[in-house]
Amino acid sequence: MLQQVPELRKPPWHGSKVSTGGSAPIHFWLIGVILMIMQKTDILPLRLGAIEIRVPIIQAALSGYSDAPMRKIARKFGCEFVLCEVMLDQFVVAVSKRKSRLYFADSDEHPIGAQIMGSEPTQFVRAAQRLADEGFDLIDLNFACPVKKVLGRQRGGYLMSDPKSALDIVAAVRKNIPSTIPLTLKLRKGFDDLPESRTRFFEILDGAVDLGVCGVTIHGRTVRQRYEGLSDWNFICEVKQYLLAKNRPDVAVIGSGDLFTAEVCTQRLAESGVNGLALARGIIGNPWLFREISAVLCQEPKPEPPSLVEQREVLAEHFRLSVELYGESRAATTMRAFGVKYCLLHPSSDQVRQDFVKVKTVADWNNVLEKWYTFCNPPDTTE
Ligand SMILES: Cc1cc2nc3c(=O)[nH]c(=O)nc-3n(C[C@H](O)[C@H](O)[C@H](O)COP(=O)(O)O)c2cc1C
Repeated sequence: MLQQVPELRKPPWHGSKVSTGGSAPIHFWLIGVILMIMQKTDILPLRLGAIEIRVPIIQAALSGYSDAPMRKIARKFGCEFVLCEVMLDQFVVAVSKRKSRLYFADSDEHPIGAQIMGSEPTQFVRAAQRLADEGFDLIDLNFACPVKKVLGRQRGGYLMSDPKSALDIVAAVRKNIPSTIPLTLKLRKGFDDLPESRTRFFEILDGAVDLGVCGVTIHGRTVRQRYEGLSDWNFICEVKQYLLAKNRPDVAVIGSGDLFTAEVCTQRLAESGVNGLALARGIIGNPWLFREISAVLCQEPKPEPPSLVEQREVLAEHFRLSVELYGESRAATTMRAFGVKYCLLHPSSDQVRQDFVKVKTVADWNNVLEKWYTFCNPPDTTE
């Protein structure tokens, strides 16, 4: 299904000044045009410290999903950089050596980033140091999670409303992890739509850049919005222009929000000037999106949608990786959530879904694959 891309409203450098930037509008306009031409003719790699991502499309942190099996499948389809799901700082410190393989990265997963959430600098530092010791290539700090309980504990998106605490955390982590490990932030557009929130966003951005953060991923919704409405790509674009105007082209901006098709992704990359895109809901159950985007970006023909046989191969491989990591019972529970997403590509998705949600064992999973993914035409169930 092709998602309609809402037209970007007039770019922010047209006619009005970016209130926090203060440069002349023509300056913004010129930079924007040059950037667009460069983006259209070349795919520029995404640089996060020493990490270079040639096709600048990364797999976002996805709580409940972006475990090692999902990440490995993403890589098979050309994704060069992945993030683990967000981890609470106290949890990271407490993970036993025996259980670390469940939550941390395998040796064949580099480059890979870890994301931490918390409320207090000392705990953040301890977690970041552990993750650096465990071999993660990048640390990302989550100031974006909108879950009520998280906000109540002054974690995640709460920090968008409290620049001082947010920057204390950034300063402490940056100072106490090796300088070779890039530090990035996951931000939302603001805590809410009030002007103070916008001011706080730029306060956090400015402070973080001064403290040595090398990139920010911006989900263009406010914390209050959670997932309602559309991600504001004009805002994301404005942030990139703002950093360029401040002479900080080295700070990467990664855009997030409503990235569901190759066409949308390519358009966002070309029009917004961001350095990269973080794919999230669009790739849960659809890792083929990575190869479609790569093809479109490289001006090659877009690959055909995956056949049922191809889907079956990936479903089987994903399940195998999950059983290998978790054992049969937990893998079945975990994979049910993926099954109901994968089946959206199936012509009889409603019926396939009903079978996936009942999976409890390897045999159940294989039965679903045998029933629905063997023939080019799925079984006729209308009788
Ligand atoms: C199920 C789910 C889990 C998520 N988990 C995380 C997370 O752990 N860390 C994070 O920074 N963002 C998380 N996000 C937000 C996404 O990374 C992304 O910013 C957001 O979904 C917007 O992108 P999309 O509209 O393309 O899905 C999650 C989103 C979803 C839907």
